[in-house]
Amino acid sequence: MPKKLMKSAVTGLVLALIPVPSFAQEALGRQEYLNSCAGCHGAKGKGDGPLAELLTVRVSDLTVLAANNDGTFPMHDVLMFIDGRSSIRAHGSDMPIWGQRYVDEASAIVTRSEAEEYAKRRALALATYIEEIQQ
Ligand code: HEC
Repeated sequence: MPKKLMKSAVTGLVLALIPVPSFAQEALGRQEYLNSCAGCHGAKGKGDGPLAELLTVRVSDLTVLAANNDGTFPMHDVLMFIDGRSSIRAHGSDMPIWGQRYVDEASAIVTRSEAEEYAKRRALALATYIEEIQQ
């Protein structure tokens, strides 16, 4: 690999591992949203993704969370809901347990506490993006 390319690959890897500044959260969250959430929640968050009709439960419209909460985006609840490892979700929810998934993914390469940090950051990026798409 040419030296210059090699250097940019290493830079990319380092950038992927260091904390993300808040201005980058939304872009990251958007990417992650389109990859992992849009299938059920829809590209615009309206709860009308292609998988939604296969589920027995109604998929939430994610653009009205603030409107349904007296105009305040329920950041904490959204974070907990995405993580899914606390009891906030009803048993039998169709939502995947993202917190566990992210921790498992990262545990393969970093320590447990770093993996927890990583999972938290991914949930935060997602929640920041969802906050941005409120009506
Ligand atoms: C397999 C389909 C599916 C996928 C994929 C999915 N969700 Fe959900 N989600 C649901 C359903 C169904 C609900 C309704 C409540 C429940 O099932 O507990 C929901 C509810 C939610 C809620 C709660 C909304 C409220 O009304 O309080 C949030 C926040 C949420 N999802 C975020 C996400 C995010 C972020 C992702 C991607 C990381 C995601 N979901 C991926 C099916 C899905």
